[in-house]
Amino acid sequence: MVQHTILQVGALPPAAEGQLHEEFSVLRIPEKGWEAVVAEHGQQRSVAVTSSMVGVSGALIKALPNLRAVVNFGVGYDTTDVEIAQELGVQVSNTPDVLTDCVADLAVGLMIDTARSISASDRFVRRGEWPQGQYPLGQRISGKRVGIVGMGRIGRSIAKRLEAFGCSIAYHCRRRVDTLTYPWCESLIDLATHSDFLVVAVAGGPATAGLISGEVLRALGAEGHLINIARGSVVDEIALVDALIHQQIAGAGLDVFTHEPHVPKALFELDNVVLTPHIGSATAETRQDMASLFFDNLRQFIASGTLKTPVS
Ligand code: 8YV
Repeated sequence: MVQHTILQVGALPPAAEGQLHEEFSVLRIPEKGWEAVVAEHGQQRSVAVTSSMVGVSGALIKALPNLRAVVNFGVGYDTTDVEIAQELGVQVSNTPDVLTDCVADLAVGLMIDTARSISASDRFVRRGEWPQGQYPLGQRISGKRVGIVGMGRIGRSIAKRLEAFGCSIAYHCRRRVDTLTYPWCESLIDLATHSDFLVVAVAGGPATAGLISGEVLRALGAEGHLINIARGSVVDEIALVDALIHQQIAGAGLDVFTHEPHVPKALFELDNVVLTPHIGSATAETRQDMASLFFDNLRQFIASGTLKTPVS
């Protein structure tokens, strides 16, 4: 077993952070202004631990010449500069699979809430408005056309759930997935035009930044709903707020935002939007499974220099 310093970049979910500090001696690297700490300890052979919310930048990776691995809590690794890491021989792991079901469950939940106004009509009841009249009609989910943007593990899991609702599924991603029978739409605009619900399940990062543009939202149209459980960066948030205010789309269910934890205030006023604070994987069971996989990666790397679930 080779001696490694464990460098913690950013906060981890509290239980995982507690366990980390119990099991290892950990050096905390500040997210900003890390230069002094790195100048003092940066030469040591190290493993960085981080979460998808923070990640390890290319600059920090470059400043740590003996960094050997980045062990990431979360499936998304868009906040870590994987290209630089791979160039410099730094291995990176994430926590795939264990959160797929919970994120897919939330996507379907947001769809139902957005179209059937569960949260909005709950507020209506609590405001004591029911005696004054019926709540406006919502829109049906069952049997609708769903376009899924990104057909990885989570996209497929969402599709599987929605098949049980009798929905017709089509998808857009860079290449057709041969093993799937759902129609692949090469053009995202075409997919949006022919969808009642557009569900964003694609990885974040520069390749997908702003993919859901004003044009895509206009193609989705006044009867269409947008669901995003992926990353805020994938959606042009200014265009989305505008489309919602001007009812260019019918509604949105959003678990992720461009500048988390900050959410555009204009959305607070809109009853056709459901807002959740990035809780896709946030169940006790899934966070426990993510923590187990995170620690499996960390312990395996320290023991053997390999990762259990490396990103490719
Ligand atoms: C976060 C997520 O990781 O896994 C991801 O990519 O976005 C979430 O599950 C979670 O908030 C822990 O940081």
